[in-house]
Amino acid sequence: MRVANLRKAFGSNRVLRDLSLSFPRGGTTVVMGPSGCGKSVLLKHLIGLLRPDAGEVWHEDIRIDRLSESGLGRVRRQIGFLFQQGALFDSMSVGDNVGFPLREHSELSPEDRRQRVERMLHMVGVPDTYDKDPATLSGGQRKRVALARAVVLEPDLILYDEPTTGLDPIRSDIIGELITRLQRALELTSIVVTHDIQLSFRIADRMVLLHEGRVRMQGTPEEFRQTDDPEVRRFLEGRATRDELAGLEPVEGVDE
Ligand SMILES: Nc1ncnc2c1ncn2[C@@H]1O[C@H](COP(=O)(O)OP(=O)(O)OP(=O)(O)O)[C@@H](O)[C@H]1O
Ligand SMILES: [Mg+2]
Repeated sequence: MRVANLRKAFGSNRVLRDLSLSFPRGGTTVVMGPSGCGKSVLLKHLIGLLRPDAGEVWHEDIRIDRLSESGLGRVRRQIGFLFQQGALFDSMSVGDNVGFPLREHSELSPEDRRQRVERMLHMVGVPDTYDKDPATLSGGQRKRVALARAVVLEPDLILYDEPTTGLDPIRSDIIGELITRLQRALELTSIVVTHDIQLSFRIADRMVLLHEGRVRMQGTPEEFRQTDDPEVRRFLEGRATRDELAGLEPVEGVDE
């Protein structure tokens, strides 16, 4: 998967400004960057949910940004995605949620579907939840179910948008481990968008930092650890600039 010279603006908000990136096959690429820098917008371009103003999006030898809706439908079957709001359908059981893509896109018999779904639930560490109602699960369990649904068609590429948001550090760590295991078990190419720095270093083969719609840095985790680019260090260490702090409204009773 790769993008070349991608540009996207919403009105006067120029979100992606000449972005070029490639995502090596079989590896995990982590895309980081401050909130609002266009990470989710980038992912949406990869599956054709958004069309660029200029530039190209390629999945193997298919030009995604030029595909018709039916062409996109075919490509999306080979791509798993875990949305930022990893929504499950609350009106369906866990098993029906995970089995949904199979019902839509495969010829498997009901028994084979059930078996596949049980196997996926087992793989992500929530066995015995098949008949449960998603509303009765914890946030971490729901993420796992959403993860099982994202990989149930055994895609060769999976996109994760903030897979650990809202989880405590231990559960985040488990999701990190799962991402790595799934990648090995299914020989997936993974693209993970996150601002979870700990997760990034845990799972990345390659890391990319976006800043103001462009690639600020890309490299191995080791290269990121050793960089002396002050902007990259500041991001990794989570330090706000004076300007960013000055933008905050005073809190009554706390600030003078
Ligand atoms: N459909 C849309 N219409 C108009 N503006 C949009 C749309 N989608 C995204 N934007 C704008 O594009 C910018 C980038 O949004 P995006 O969701 O990609 O940020 P992000 O990097 O994923 O942030 P976060 O880390 O908070 O999820 C934001 O300014 C957002 O308001
Ligand atoms: Mg986002």
